[in-house]
Amino acid sequence: MFYRTDEPHGLPHNPFNALVVPRPIGWISSQDSKGHVNLAPYSFFNAVAYSPPQVMFATSGPHEEDDGLKDTISNIQETGEFVVNIATWDLRHAMNATSAPAPRDVDEFEAVGLEKEASQMVGPPRVAASPIHLECTYDQTVELPKTDPNDSNLVVFGTVVGIHINDDIMAGGKVDLMKADIIGRLGYRDYTRVTDIFSLARPDWPIEPVEPVE
Ligand SMILES: Cc1cc2nc3c(=O)[nH]c(=O)nc-3n(C[C@H](O)[C@H](O)[C@H](O)COP(=O)(O)O)c2cc1C
Repeated sequence: MFYRTDEPHGLPHNPFNALVVPRPIGWISSQDSKGHVNLAPYSFFNAVAYSPPQVMFATSGPHEEDDGLKDTISNIQETGEFVVNIATWDLRHAMNATSAPAPRDVDEFEAVGLEKEASQMVGPPRVAASPIHLECTYDQTVELPKTDPNDSNLVVFGTVVGIHINDDIMAGGKVDLMKADIIGRLGYRDYTRVTDIFSLARPDWPIEPVEPVE
């Protein structure tokens, strides 16, 4: 099938986020200037630079409470700091629960019963049970085009200033992703687990024609 995105796709559900997959999940902790802590997942999330390491996430749609910004972006713009916690298989229900449209002053760590761990370089706490944390400082927000004037499509960029890796997922000086059991977002209500890993060496030039293989 082909459809133009400015015309109806004719399907029962929008297929767009089932096509760009798997997407990493940034489970983002932040806090406002009064110290109210917030935690929410974002799968329009990725790493975008090595040096210094930088990440982005995108928020779309209004906050359901007051049509303002979602708590995560509003907190980050207010206090300039956030933590990306990496979501794992055993934390999947807790991660999903923190996506509920909670009132602004609700601390999702407490609502879901997640233990906090203090960060080293930024104010927002970390999800203690997550094996990977990226402590970040806020750089900029980029406003994207939007179809609905009441919507907001905003991309937040930040610099990773500190990284925690649980020693339990390290082996031979490398991160052992089979031990980490990280989850990613697919389309609809679907997710995936990082359980099937293969390696490819980078090619030299010139390259030869390459057939698809089983
Ligand atoms: C796995 C997952 C990924 C999500 N990704 C996004 C996203 O990329 N952008 C977004 O705006 N909302 C996303 N959401 C919805 C937000 O988590 C939800 O709107 C949440 O209430 C926002 O919380 P906050 O207002 O505390 O920031 C996602 C939800 C789930 C469960």
